[in-house]
Amino acid sequence: MTAAERLTVELGDELNEMASRGTLKDLRVYESPQGPEVRLRGLGEVLVLSSNDYLGMAANPRVIEAGVEALRTYGAGTASVRFICGLFEPHIELERDLADFLGTGASLTYVSCWTANHAILDALSDQETHIFSDELNHASIIDAMKLARPGGKSIYPHSDMEALEAALIEHAGVKRKLVVTDGVFSMEGDLAPLPRMVELCEEHDAVLIVDDSHGLGVMGETGRGTAEHFGLHGRVDIITGTLGKALGGGAGGFVAGSEELCEVLEQRSRPQLFSNGLPPTVAGSARQALIELREHPELVARLRENTATYRRLLTEAGFDPIPGDSAIVPVLVGETARAIEISRAMLEDGVFVTGFGYPVVPEGTARIRSQISAAMENGQLERAVATMLSATQRVGSAVGPSPI
Ligand SMILES: Cc1ncc(COP(=O)(O)O)c(C=O)c1O
Repeated sequence: MTAAERLTVELGDELNEMASRGTLKDLRVYESPQGPEVRLRGLGEVLVLSSNDYLGMAANPRVIEAGVEALRTYGAGTASVRFICGLFEPHIELERDLADFLGTGASLTYVSCWTANHAILDALSDQETHIFSDELNHASIIDAMKLARPGGKSIYPHSDMEALEAALIEHAGVKRKLVVTDGVFSMEGDLAPLPRMVELCEEHDAVLIVDDSHGLGVMGETGRGTAEHFGLHGRVDIITGTLGKALGGGAGGFVAGSEELCEVLEQRSRPQLFSNGLPPTVAGSARQALIELREHPELVARLRENTATYRRLLTEAGFDPIPGDSAIVPVLVGETARAIEISRAMLEDGVFVTGFGYPVVPEGTARIRSQISAAMENGQLERAVATMLSATQRVGSAVGPSPI
């Protein structure tokens, strides 16, 4: 057997083992745009509660048209990295508008927020840097810290501000201290305690970086994010975020901060130097999504209302969702296989919502994670809860909390 054949056998064994443990994920294929109701290959029309399209922008005709227009005007892409081949007008407009919206001096886009998080932590770290990071931060931050190899790092227990303070005191002598957190934690749906984090960073001379991928367009009166929710608009030093969720759902990410920060990242962050810029299509759509958000803050209010309704309906049905203010509503169900089974049973009944288990979340805390959209109607929320109830009953309540 050649090395490549042996590798194929080993990988096949790994897949078989995942299948036998019931942890193999099923991937669905869309035959329509993203939205509350979609058409899936082989399954027909289903209601979707696992999309990050929080504001219903993915199928917004003006968002689509802006992407098409940028594609027609500027072609498919940059055909090289920005510093070699240049960038297009939609990049400049989007970066200006993002900075303006978030109240920062500048912003800089990347092909994803994953890349943006890698870029910033790597570019800002050296042996005189210490990174302080919440244990439940997104995988992109965890991996970015490995890549950045700062002089030191402290991983504090989830949202434990006493632990963060103790770590900041312990490392008081370090030249550059970076505190990094998700704004909205993606698996829990809870918020970082930003008021205390801003205070601690000010007291202990640290820079605060917030990845607000799930907060942008969702939190705060006008969707400016978790900082706005806490009345801290303009007080977070650096914000990273995605364009792949509330802002059109295409792809792309950004860093927003001072002009000097964005200039340095443009000059020497590795993804800017070695990877293409955003396709103009995506920049055009994301910018239009931002315009829609500014012109229609009622979308954010509608999202908040829908989420409150969904939480109320779940509770009335006997479920106990993890508390939170964001549009992410997780219900714990115990083991991974059970979460996957419940989500399969819900899909049979026409509701697409993903069950998350190990290794995405710790063993024994598998969950059905619903994400709400401003585009949903009350009847759809009622249908989703009724479907979750009947699927949970069908699968049985042997593992984890159950309303039955
Ligand atoms: C908190 C957080 N950060 C970063 C990302 C990565 O975003 P992108 O899809 O733009 O790479 C995600 C996506 O799931 C996320 O939830």
